[in-house]
Amino acid sequence: MTLPGSPFLSSRSDGLWLEGARLADLARRFGTPLYVYSRNAMRTAAASYQRALAGRPHLLCYAMKANSNLAVLQTFAEAGCGFDIVSAGELQRVLAAGGRADRVVFSGVGKTADEMRLALQAGVRCFNVESEAELALLSAVAHGLGRRAPVSLRVNPDVDAGTHPYISTGLKGNKFGIAHVQALAVYRLARQLPGIDVVGIDCHIGSQITTAGPYLDALDRLLDLVDVLAAEGIDLQHIDLGGGLGITYTDESPPSAEDLVRQMLARIDARGHGHREVLLEPGRSMVGNAGVLLASVLYLKPGDEKSFCIVDAAMNDLMRPAMYQAWMNIVACEPRTIDPATYDVVGPICESGDWLGRDRALAVQSGDVLAVLSAGAYGMTMASNYNTRARAAEVMVEGDTVHLIREREPLARLWAGERLIG
Ligand code: LLP
Repeated sequence: MTLPGSPFLSSRSDGLWLEGARLADLARRFGTPLYVYSRNAMRTAAASYQRALAGRPHLLCYAMKANSNLAVLQTFAEAGCGFDIVSAGELQRVLAAGGRADRVVFSGVGKTADEMRLALQAGVRCFNVESEAELALLSAVAHGLGRRAPVSLRVNPDVDAGTHPYISTGLKGNKFGIAHVQALAVYRLARQLPGIDVVGIDCHIGSQITTAGPYLDALDRLLDLVDVLAAEGIDLQHIDLGGGLGITYTDESPPSAEDLVRQMLARIDARGHGHREVLLEPGRSMVGNAGVLLASVLYLKPGDEKSFCIVDAAMNDLMRPAMYQAWMNIVACEPRTIDPATYDVVGPICESGDWLGRDRALAVQSGDVLAVLSAGAYGMTMASNYNTRARAAEVMVEGDTVHLIREREPLARLWAGERLIG
C-alpha cells in the first residue's frame, strides 16, 4: 500500500518502508529523532517540473530554504536545477554542494551590502529586488565593484493565494515585493541606475497553494506589466513565477507540478510572451513528500481528558505544527496487535505548544518508532536548539542504499562558541 502524497513510501506487512529501507531499522541504526529522505522522490519531483518546461528556455530554481542539506542540493544540482537563495549562507551552501552561481536567484526583503557583494562576486544569475531602497543600495554596491547587477523586480500582484496567513505573501498588506501600482516607476528608476541591469520580473504569492487559479491571476497581473514595460522599451528576458505549489499532507489534492506549469505556459503563450525565459522557485513540492521524521515513543501517559504519547522529537525538530497548527500525518513504523487509542503526540520540551499531532489514533507502546510524514520541507531547516537539544541526524535513501547525510549534532557543539566571563 502506498501512503497519500508519498509514492516512495510504502506500508508492507513488516511495517513502513521508504524506497528500499525499512524505517524502523533506520531508527535503530541511526537513533531518533531522525530525518529520512528519498532521493528518487526528489528526482521525480524535479522531473515533473522539467517535463512541462522542456523545449523552452527555463531555469528551475529549487527554493533551498525548504531543505538545504548539502546532499539535497547536490541531488538537485545533478538534476540540472538552479537555486533560489535568501542569504549569503545559502549561497555558500550551493557552492559547497557543487551548484553553479550562475543558476542562482537571490530573493528576500533584507539583503545586506555584504551579501550583495558576495553574490556579485560569485556571479549569481539575478537579484530579485523587493524595494526601491534595496535597488539603490544594490546599484551602489555593484557600481563600486565596477559591475552591473542583474535585477528582476519582485512585484506584489495583490492576489489571495488562499493559504495560511503566515505563508501568504502576495497581498497588499504583506511585507513582500513592490506594489503593482508602483512597479512601473521603480522599473524606470532601475533603468537609470549605473549599477543595475534590468533583466526580469518576479512574483511569489505564498506557499502550500493547492489550486492553479491564484497563479494564473498573478501571472496575468505580471504580464500586464511586461506589456507596458515593453512599450517603453524595457524588454524583459525572463518571467519568474516563484514557488508555492502545495503538497498532500492529508486530503489536499493540488495539481501536479507538470499540470500547473502547463497551464501557466499556455497562458504565457496565449498572451504572446512564449519567447521569454521562465523561472520557477519551488521548495515544498520538491522535497516535502520525500521525507519523514522518525521519533521513538518514550512514554504513554493516559489521562481523563487527554492521553499523551510522549516522543523524543519535539517542536525544535519540527516547528510546523506549533507554528502554523499544521496537520501532519503520524503513523507507527511497525504493525502492532494492540488496540489503538487516541493520543496527543507531544515532545519533551517545556511548553504546551510542543506538540506534533493532536487526537491521533495510534496502536503503540513505549519504544515503538513513529513517522511524521511529509516532513521533507521546512522540517530540518527550521529546527533549533531550544532546551539545549542537539539537532537530528539526516539520512538519504536511494534504492536500498542508505547514506548518512548529516551526523547527529554533538552536544558540546551547542555551547562551543560561548564564553565564561572574567
Ligand atoms: N520563493 C520565495 C521568494 C519564497 O519566499 C518561498 C517560500 C519560495 C520561493 C518557496 O515556496 P514553496 O514552494 O516552498 O511554497 N515555513 C513555512 C513555509 C514558508 C515559505 C516561505 N517562502 C511552512 O513550513 O509551511
